[in-house]
Amino acid sequence: MKRLLSGIQPTGKLTLGNYIGALQQFVKLQDELEDTELFIFIADLHAITIPQNRQELKKNIRSVAALYVACGLDPNKVNLFVQSEIPEHAQLGYVMESTAYVGEMERMTQYKDKKGKQAEGIRTSLLTYPALMAADILLYDADIVPIGDDQKQHLELTRNLAVRFNNAYGQTFTVPEGYYTKTGARIMSLTEPTKKMSKSAENPKSYILLLDDLAQVRNKIKSAVTDSDGLIKYDPKKKPGISNLLTIYSALTEYSIKQLEEMYEDKNYQVFKADLAEIVADALRPIQSKYFEIMNGTELDKILDHGAEKARVVAQRKLVKVYKKLGLGRIR
Ligand code: TYM
Repeated sequence: MKRLLSGIQPTGKLTLGNYIGALQQFVKLQDELEDTELFIFIADLHAITIPQNRQELKKNIRSVAALYVACGLDPNKVNLFVQSEIPEHAQLGYVMESTAYVGEMERMTQYKDKKGKQAEGIRTSLLTYPALMAADILLYDADIVPIGDDQKQHLELTRNLAVRFNNAYGQTFTVPEGYYTKTGARIMSLTEPTKKMSKSAENPKSYILLLDDLAQVRNKIKSAVTDSDGLIKYDPKKKPGISNLLTIYSALTEYSIKQLEEMYEDKNYQVFKADLAEIVADALRPIQSKYFEIMNGTELDKILDHGAEKARVVAQRKLVKVYKKLGLGRIR
């Protein structure tokens, strides 16, 4: 039996980038993969690498959990759980810190970016974050890790740490493979299409939130930055704006980018954007109605309790094995 694992941080609201890069993939894989156990969690420990408001964090944890289900994850097929409820994540995270080198952590692009934006008060956990992410993955011997392009470097590090540990202590961890979408591995900002669409960006017009009002969603798509030559062609270097919109269109429909270029050969940006606005709104409508139904219901806690129970069994067993290999404590 293989294992799939992935997670999303409960910081702020989830975006269309999270949906296309991660959530949509989770649902697709849940339906396609056979003989695979799925673990999908809410990465709340990762959220405290930067300051969080307690009430907001609580709300966001529930909100991400509800979005998992609203986007189509079936709790009968997937173990959904909250990371901090399984203490082995933090425990193996420390072991991974004791496997990784400081230089490796300092080289992580995401750390350098985030550090660059913050003058002081950078938390140690922002630096050691990839060790915790490696632990999240290795704790479950995950074979497949569906992620967006921005997490690729962290996955590579995880693979290196698994190999290093295995070489030092004997076969212990499965070396995981990343799983990326062909078109949507990186959805870009609508206002600055050379940057990633991010929930932490300052300009709300740059991202689409899964829970945005649909009229707002349409407006954001219609006012997305494009170039002035008017050709609907995929060329991320020269035409990042329209290329990003083509990527979104393709990810949410059955059409390939090539087919879209042909369909819109004689059309202008306005027509293309109006069509895309409807496609995005149509994709979000059912997610939003399901989301509110779940948030108002009583099922969510049961789903997360059940998921945590399943996760705990796997995690506990693995951590004991690792401690034993390291010679920690009195376990024989
Ligand atoms: P996070 O919470 O930043 O993002 C969750 C997932 O969404 C993807 N994503 C995107 N994909 C395409 N375009 C975008 N603009 C975009 N923005 C975000 C991310 O690549 C990610 O797959 N460290 C992780 C959470 C994590 C994790 C793990 C993931 C913790 N432990 C173990 C996998 C396995 C993170 O911060 O993702």
